[in-house]
Amino acid sequence: MQTLSVEQKAALCLGADFWHTAAVPGVASILVSDGPHGLRVQPAGGDHVGLGGSLPATCFPTAAALASSWDPALAREIGAALGVEARAQGVGVVLGPGVNIKRSPLCGRNFEYFSEDPHLTGVLAAALVEGIQSRGVGTSVKHFAANNQETDRLRVSAEVDERTLREIYLPAFEHVVTRARPWTVMCAYNKVNGVYASQHGWLLTTVLRDEWGFDGVVVSDWGAVADRVAALVAGLDLEMPPNRGVSDRAIVDAVADGSLDEAVLDRAVDRMRRLVERAGPPSPDPAAVDWDAHHALARRAAADGIVLLRNEGHDPEDRVLPLHDSPSLRVAVVGELARTPRYQGAGSSQVNPTRLDVPLEEITAALPLATMSFAPGYALDGPPDRLLADEAVALATGADVVVALLGLPAAAESEGFDRDHIDLPTAQLTLLSRLADTGVPVVVALAHGGVVRTDPWEHRVAAVLECWLGGQAGGGALADVLTGAVDPGGRLAETVPLRLADTPSHLNFPGEEGRVRYGEGVFVGYRGFDALDRPVAHPFGHGLSYTGFGYSGLTVDVDGTDLTVGATVTNTGARAGREVVQLYVGDPECSVARPPAELRGFAKVALDPGESRTVTFTLGARDLSFWSTARGGWVLEPGEFEIAVGASSRDLRLCRTVTVDVPLPRVPLTADSTLQEWLADPVGGPALRAAAGPGILQDEELLRVIGNFPLGRLAAFPGIGITRETLTHLGAGERGAG
Ligand code: BGC
Repeated sequence: MQTLSVEQKAALCLGADFWHTAAVPGVASILVSDGPHGLRVQPAGGDHVGLGGSLPATCFPTAAALASSWDPALAREIGAALGVEARAQGVGVVLGPGVNIKRSPLCGRNFEYFSEDPHLTGVLAAALVEGIQSRGVGTSVKHFAANNQETDRLRVSAEVDERTLREIYLPAFEHVVTRARPWTVMCAYNKVNGVYASQHGWLLTTVLRDEWGFDGVVVSDWGAVADRVAALVAGLDLEMPPNRGVSDRAIVDAVADGSLDEAVLDRAVDRMRRLVERAGPPSPDPAAVDWDAHHALARRAAADGIVLLRNEGHDPEDRVLPLHDSPSLRVAVVGELARTPRYQGAGSSQVNPTRLDVPLEEITAALPLATMSFAPGYALDGPPDRLLADEAVALATGADVVVALLGLPAAAESEGFDRDHIDLPTAQLTLLSRLADTGVPVVVALAHGGVVRTDPWEHRVAAVLECWLGGQAGGGALADVLTGAVDPGGRLAETVPLRLADTPSHLNFPGEEGRVRYGEGVFVGYRGFDALDRPVAHPFGHGLSYTGFGYSGLTVDVDGTDLTVGATVTNTGARAGREVVQLYVGDPECSVARPPAELRGFAKVALDPGESRTVTFTLGARDLSFWSTARGGWVLEPGEFEIAVGASSRDLRLCRTVTVDVPLPRVPLTADSTLQEWLADPVGGPALRAAAGPGILQDEELLRVIGNFPLGRLAAFPGIGITRETLTHLGAGERGAG
């Protein structure tokens, strides 16, 4: 191994340019590129902020759409395809996936994130990472951590307690790091509890490396480094893009004046060397990619993420979907989005697609016998347009069914800013109301990244398909689902609220004066809606199929802290379909407030009519535990747990209460522990009773009044039998006792 000078070491820990790491003697440069759902390799000569003019690459469904598939096998397949494209374009590390939790529906970047639920996020992201890395290309799981908004994202401090971090915002990172071993992790821009994520030693070293065993490179988000030396010490190895002449100078000077131990720099250098070795020499070869096959995969994936929110009608034959092609069928396709599709979000994840399916063309091709007509109905960015709406309504009047493509214009959501409402544009709502007035059944197909309200208009339409931002083949996927060529495979990865104001983070988003308080704690998304018993438009996990599913035969075997849960799901309808069987766990008796039910497992099963499958889940102690800030660790309290299996967080078909018999975890008792805490402790209680003798400890009424006094304070009260000597006897003097 070549010996490097301090200058060369410092150079290696900074990029060479926007997308390349630096080459130093013995260590080659590698190319990194966004992003989560497609590559964004800028050829030399691209713009200098790294946004425009990238090489064509397959634009797969965005994370919001992929998450709705609840299908890790699919995520792995997409990952492998991304890996192949990355290798073919000479990319060593793909900058994704983004695993931040959707704390608020307003976050402008929600399209790039998976879910409001950490388990779903972690499982899908790990599969994506495994897929990409299976092709010899690295990943960068981002943005670590608590980057849940775009407002003031480079400065804002996410004020979040440790339990909430451990239970909500860190588990997806933890799952990916421990299961899929990503080559790199990207730090967030924001501060976490007052410290920049880029120089957060607890996050970047204590948790990430010491606890989770991460052995790769921590890279900065682009421009996230505020203090290069502090970042290096905290565990940030690579700064991107390089603040040349400043950051390298700061490192060299700090080593020279002794304020930075060179061993810290060496550690980062070793990690960089290893990363470059792992990536190996690039072998760009665009011919190595089967672009058609990737487009087909993108189409299958997009269909797998389409969620059928509503399909009115008691019996299948009464329902408007799927559409049955016939010469007598007249379909009016309405909406500018049918010919100007929205299929991805803006910002660093924006892909230059290899092809683009236009929904109108795809729907027309999928219904060759039917009579098709089209009217744009609204302008994407404009106010209501009477003439456009009149034309669409006239068309609708002469049709058997209206397929209305609605959604958000590109300008409404992006990296860089948050939304301020979750409604569809007024022009579209006005049009939809008039279409519904015609009495012709309306099917709404939605395209957008962050959640939109459906409640104000949904009862007036016959069916709603939630398509998210489905990538370059989203148009074909929509046609597949509309016609029933593909069963709608998606289930909601986030709650659709009735109103923005109902969302648990509402009063604390996006913060003020540089701070955002995560006041809802662990009650994010459905955890909060359920705990508050608030109605929602569509619950987390919801999604219909063109067939029906029955649940039966719940079994729960308890072996210590290991649970094996089984349930049988049966296709009770007349068509093949896919169901997502979801397992939720609740801990109704707990010393801390917990969400009524939390997703702990899921399985996607494809079933032919009449077919049944038994799905089995295994749960361990961690799945039943909460993070105790007081005890600094995961705690499993004995008692009853509710195990529920169903089709959504609010459609739990099978439930069972089981008892988990473990010793009650003991809290260390000190002079600061209350009388109640002492008496409740299986060892401390009897010891105190013996030491204090009879007297007030037998007076139940008095105990209720003074039970919350710390023992040390009671020792100052005369005549109650608890004295300084009692404390000393119990070992609860100044330093406490066990
Ligand atoms: C984004 C990252 C992205 C990076 C490089 C940043 O602005 O937050 O997600 O990977 O730019 O494009």
